[in-house]
Formats: sequence, C-alpha cells, structure tokens
Amino acid sequence: MKKLTTKKLSVAPKPNRFVIVVYSDTHINDAMGLLAPEIGMSWGGSYTANVPQAQWTWPKWLEFCELAKSIAARKPNTKFIAVGDGDLGELDLKRRSINVLSRNPNDILHMMTTTLSPLTSVVDRNYVIRGTEAHGGLSNWIEELFAGKIGAEPLKLTEAINKKDADGKEEPSNLQYARWDMLFDWGGVLVDISHHMRIAGREWSVGSPAVTVCKESIITYTEGGMRVPNLIVRAHVHHNYDSFEASPICRVVTTVGWQIGETRGLAIPYLKRIDPVFRPRPIGGIILEIDDKEYKVHKFISMPPQRIPESWSENT
Ligand SMILES: [Fe+2]
Ligand SMILES: [Fe+2]
Repeated sequence: MKKLTTKKLSVAPKPNRFVIVVYSDTHINDAMGLLAPEIGMSWGGSYTANVPQAQWTWPKWLEFCELAKSIAARKPNTKFIAVGDGDLGELDLKRRSINVLSRNPNDILHMMTTTLSPLTSVVDRNYVIRGTEAHGGLSNWIEELFAGKIGAEPLKLTEAINKKDADGKEEPSNLQYARWDMLFDWGGVLVDISHHMRIAGREWSVGSPAVTVCKESIITYTEGGMRVPNLIVRAHVHHNYDSFEASPICRVVTTVGWQIGETRGLAIPYLKRIDPVFRPRPIGGIILEIDDKEYKVHKFISMPPQRIPESWSENT
C-alpha cells in the first residue's frame, strides 16, 4: 500500500522592506534638463551635454543612484523600486523656448532610456507616472512610450483583465504602462504618489503648501471613506516642500526635480519671465525607506554652483 505523505507548502514571507526611489522633472531633451554625457542621434551625429549638464546634474544623478543602491543594500530581502513621477521628457508643446534638442520621438526616447538607466536598470521594478501635458505631450504619450520601453509595471484596466489573446497572454491594448497616480500599500505604509500639486509657494514657505495638501488630503480621503495615506509624494513644483509633523497621521513631501533653473548664463526662458531674480534652484530626488510598517524619507538635494558676478576687465 502506497504511503501517503503530506508535503509542507512553503509560503514565501511577505516582503516588509521596500526602498522606493522617487525621481521626477528630469525634462530630458531640454537644454537645461538631465542628460547623459553623450547621446547618439538618429541622423548619425551625437549630442554632447553642455557644461552644467555634464559637470553638475549628471554626476549628481549618479551620486543619487548610488545612494539609493546603498540604502537598498543595507538589509537583505529588500524590494528596490523606482518611480518616475512625471515630466521625464520634454516636448515643449507650448513652444516656450527653442532650447529642445530634438523633435524626433525616437531621439527623445533614446535620451530618456540612456540617461535614466543608471537607476531604471538596477531596480527590481519600475513604475512611471504621467506628468504635465505641456512637457510630455497629450496624455503624456512620451512617458507612456518610455514606460513600455523600460518594461515598467503596467496598470491593468479593470474591464480588460480577462481579455487574452490566442496564446493566453494579456493583450497589450489592455495595459497602461504609465499611470496618472499610484496608491500603494508597501509593507503597511500607505503611499500616494502623483505628479501635480496645485499649490505653489515661495522660497520661504516650505511648510505651507505641503501642509495645505496634507490637510486637504486628510479631508478628501476621510470623506471618501478611504484610509488616509501615511505619506503623500508630489512633483511638478520643482521645490522642496515638506509638511513635517504638521499632522500625526500624514506627511506630504515634494521632489525638486533634475532640471537646472539657471546657472552661469544659461537659463530656462520661462522661469526668467515668471521670476527674474536669480534663484539657485536645487536638483535631487527622494528615497523612501519602508521597514516593518515604519518609514524614513531620505532627501537628496544639491544646490547649483554659485553665480560669479561679472567684473570690469580692460581686455573685454
Ligand atoms: Fe517639471
Ligand atoms: Fe509638471
């Protein structure tokens, strides 16, 4: 008689440590955006990054990626995640400047995948969020294409979940690679990430816009019968806003982005119009470390090189 044996099913423990890197506003394809040192273009030549891109933003971007990797490597069994929070490419739909490097979608996509690969190629999973249409095209199509190209985690549309092709695979038309927002429970910490933040403020009001979004979100989520996020991340404003301990249940932080505002004679024309005073706008991103229902916000912020005043010279 055959002896019955009971096999113990081994269930993988649920991960409870996540390191989530939020980067945004890279505005790749803008002369002041983030860019790898040299990019081959579709017509055969190549574009070489300008001085601020090559000497400041690119080394800082690599430093940021290394910092994220080192935080993820501190403990085993960590899920390492990257979230591109919008305005990753620059199409300049509003024709605010003539400083875009290419109008060719293939070139722009190539610039984006090459420049962002030091992060996107090392994480366990990528997510991409759509930004502002003026930069990413209608419905932010450039971010959708980018997300598909890097194999970002797609969002399955509810009504399409059961639609399979003849081989039983999900039809590509049922998947959205870039999302409008994310609401994710990572190891017991509820995180809400999207690009836009309606409220902008001044340099000295780092708390006030974030506190406004924080309190508004508590009301909106509560009245909608939903759990209030522990953490809300926003981009778009290119400022470091933080609600800190304004609420015991919810904190709002913003990413500063990777586009140079102004440095050493180069500037974003639009920014000069809305704010003519020289403002050293920082670059950087956020690394969220979630461990056993607790979270830490690591901020990577770098200020641009100081402006050097011009002085009289007989030789000029
Ligand atoms: Fe932006
Ligand atoms: Fe934006």
